[in-house]
Amino acid sequence: MSERLEIVFAPLSHPLEPAMAVLAGEEMALGAFAAGLDSRSGGALMRAAAAAGFKGKARNAIELLGHSELSPSRVLLVGAGRPSEAKDNDCILLGGYVFGQLALRKTVSASVVAELPGSDGPKNTDLAADMAMGALLRSYKFAKYLTNNRPEKPEGENGEAAQGDGIQRLVIHTSDPDAARAAFQQREAIAGGIAMARDLVNEPANALGPVEFANRCLELAQVGVQVEVLDLAALKALGMGALIGVAQGSVREPRVVVMQWNGAKSKRAKPLAFIGKGVTFDTGGYSIKPAAGMEDMKGDMAGAACVVGLMHALAARKAPVNAVGLIGIVENMVSGDAQRPGDIVTSMSGQTIEVLNTDAEGRLVLADVIWYAQERFKPKLLVDLATLTGAIMVALGKEHAGLFATDDKLAAELIAAGQATGERVWRMPLDRAYDKMLDSKNADMKNIGGRLAGSITAAHFIGRFVKGTPWAHLDVAGVAMDSTRNEINQSWASGWGIRLLDRMVADNHEKNEK
Ligand code: BES
Ligand code: MN
Ligand code: ZN
Repeated sequence: MSERLEIVFAPLSHPLEPAMAVLAGEEMALGAFAAGLDSRSGGALMRAAAAAGFKGKARNAIELLGHSELSPSRVLLVGAGRPSEAKDNDCILLGGYVFGQLALRKTVSASVVAELPGSDGPKNTDLAADMAMGALLRSYKFAKYLTNNRPEKPEGENGEAAQGDGIQRLVIHTSDPDAARAAFQQREAIAGGIAMARDLVNEPANALGPVEFANRCLELAQVGVQVEVLDLAALKALGMGALIGVAQGSVREPRVVVMQWNGAKSKRAKPLAFIGKGVTFDTGGYSIKPAAGMEDMKGDMAGAACVVGLMHALAARKAPVNAVGLIGIVENMVSGDAQRPGDIVTSMSGQTIEVLNTDAEGRLVLADVIWYAQERFKPKLLVDLATLTGAIMVALGKEHAGLFATDDKLAAELIAAGQATGERVWRMPLDRAYDKMLDSKNADMKNIGGRLAGSITAAHFIGRFVKGTPWAHLDVAGVAMDSTRNEINQSWASGWGIRLLDRMVADNHEKNEK
């Protein structure tokens, strides 16, 4: 994405591009710069806006023709809602909205005036940086397989325009461009992680199997993350029987990737651990999935992609924290070598598992990776992410990820970060009575709990491999893929969770580490 959209910060006095966007608050309040523009046009902007019934409400925009006294030939007036109530996430969404509006109007290069009515310098600096981030996220497009050989669409039929096929350059005009540029650097690190995750999740499974996924992780070395790839022989030596059982039906070998970022002052401070489910394709195995929609299972590694994107974000913004990311990458296929329903496997923890449903595979992968992460790193806390159950979508739709936690403080941190970033989580119950649903006569546990409470029993299964570490599990099946398109995401893969976890880390785990 960033290679296509150039973002420049410039002073308010800088010459304007042919198209420009200015913000108007509710009750039609303008910032000082926009008010100056209006007065230079003899009040034409405000008169046209009033005639069109435009009131400055959020997610409203009108396009006005530039007055002869103004250099841009087109002026887009964008509603900013109530500026006094705007939080940082609102400003990011506003940037995405502005980008979408400019893109719809086939703009190539535009000026954006980052100035809210009635707000001061520092607030406008953050606004400029947040809007730039929103625009950058909105501009993401997974276009690597689109060639010039596709049939041309007639004019006006290009539904992709809102993603900004054409916008190449945004000039963000702000009172302190140097400060805005510096503030943007942190956000660009996060946006870079999100783009990386989206790319991984959007990639089809023929191109991205476990080995290819692990190779992509090696790119993190460029930002200073230590990356280590464990191959099948290493996983066997560790005794990861649960993970290997899932992988054995595929001709593609599994991998576990260990990513370490040591940004804290004390390199020996216990790390935070983030664990991701990385099933590069989930056919269901012999408990096979129905044909309709199976293609979506290329995204069954979105939890792992989030962990990779988060490690990128933390390292690229040089977060003063120690963090490890571990992902288990497998392909769940059918073949003469595949696992059968009823098979009993021995996990790295020593606990045995009766695999009654080969489609409940993500928890088997996580069981071993979580165990290994604790044994090796003794982390301060552990958060896992997984596209784990269809049932979580039945419960929460696509608005919230399911949060399961043994630790109230960690749960509160995640809920607060969710509110701040808009990547919201909803806490679900854990309870001994649900856990018992996993008891088996033939092994220490079975991998499914029955028809009821599917997301909760899945969480409990994972919980059986957590030993004393404060732990949270995020079931992201509804939010990470086939996501609701919004101001800052027009892609099938949302890159969900990176802003959430980055924020959770920044707000709670960096203060004493500097
Ligand atoms: N990867 C799926 C869950 C999923 C479904 C994610 C749809 C995204 C969209 C997971 O491996 C799975 O198959 N879960 C089963 C569990 C069941 C067999 C207990 C499910 O949800 O049906
Ligand atoms: Mn499955
Ligand atoms: Zn799965």
